Amino acid sequence: MSRTPAERFSENAAAYAATMVPSLRPIAAEVVRRADLRARERVIDVGTGTGHAAALARGGDREVHGIDAAPGMLAIARREVPDVDFAEMDFAALGYPDASFDAVIAVHALLFGTDRVAVLREWRRIAAPSGRLSLSVPGPDAVTPTAIYADVYDRHGIDTSDRYPTAESLADLAADAGWTEVTVVADSTTAIVLEDEEAFRAWREIGSRGAATADYTPEQHRALTDEMLAATPRDASGAFRIPFGTLYLTACRAG
Ligand SMILES: C[S@@+](CC[C@H](N)C(=O)[O-])C[C@H]1O[C@@H](n2cnc3c(N)ncnc32)[C@H](O)[C@@H]1O
Repeated sequence: MSRTPAERFSENAAAYAATMVPSLRPIAAEVVRRADLRARERVIDVGTGTGHAAALARGGDREVHGIDAAPGMLAIARREVPDVDFAEMDFAALGYPDASFDAVIAVHALLFGTDRVAVLREWRRIAAPSGRLSLSVPGPDAVTPTAIYADVYDRHGIDTSDRYPTAESLADLAADAGWTEVTVVADSTTAIVLEDEEAFRAWREIGSRGAATADYTPEQHRALTDEMLAATPRDASGAFRIPFGTLYLTACRAG
């Protein structure tokens, strides 16, 4: 049986923390800024991973929670982020009563849900009346890794049909789940930056790409990674820079 995304994240948590988190930090800061958090609010970071967005939500006497289905990620979060209550949970079936939080935040987690409208409906359930949602996802397609690796993926028979959302399709998901005042803003300048080949190869081991190549032999993996390396632009400092545009969504639970 193929492993769930959370199982793959759990196994690769240390590599994720080293390679992805530095690129996601500015995105997490923007998600938290857009959440417009106030003093003493109850905040939850769903799909918290290593907890770096939850860490940014602290302060102002707020009560901050973080949940994730990957115990390996939570182990890092608990070690690195004190004052946050972390719990292992499926974000599609949260163990909190209705209206438990003033703000729900989620950095690059939603797309791992199989029924995204149902997931957004569950996040709305735990939001208080007038509670806010602030989240990010990668997208749209033109500014994601799929764009620079299309030829490589084609040669390796990797299915890229599960495309990233557009601003419009993301907004529709939230509206269908009952959120109101839905706004989506696109930033095409964000990127995954990997300082050298070692970091690039570690990045290749993690995340959603793992699902498409789960049956690959080590030789096939190496060949794919070599071709991806050759296709990746480098910045002025020589670091690999993979386009990874961001869609920021904010919404409100009607009071
Ligand atoms: C790309 S990572 C983002 C993590 C974190 N928000 C960050 O900014 O680094 C996606 C996270 O969603 C978690 N995840 C995937 N499916 C989940 C589910 N059904 N329930 C809870 N967490 C899940 C993964 O374990 C992983 O930590």
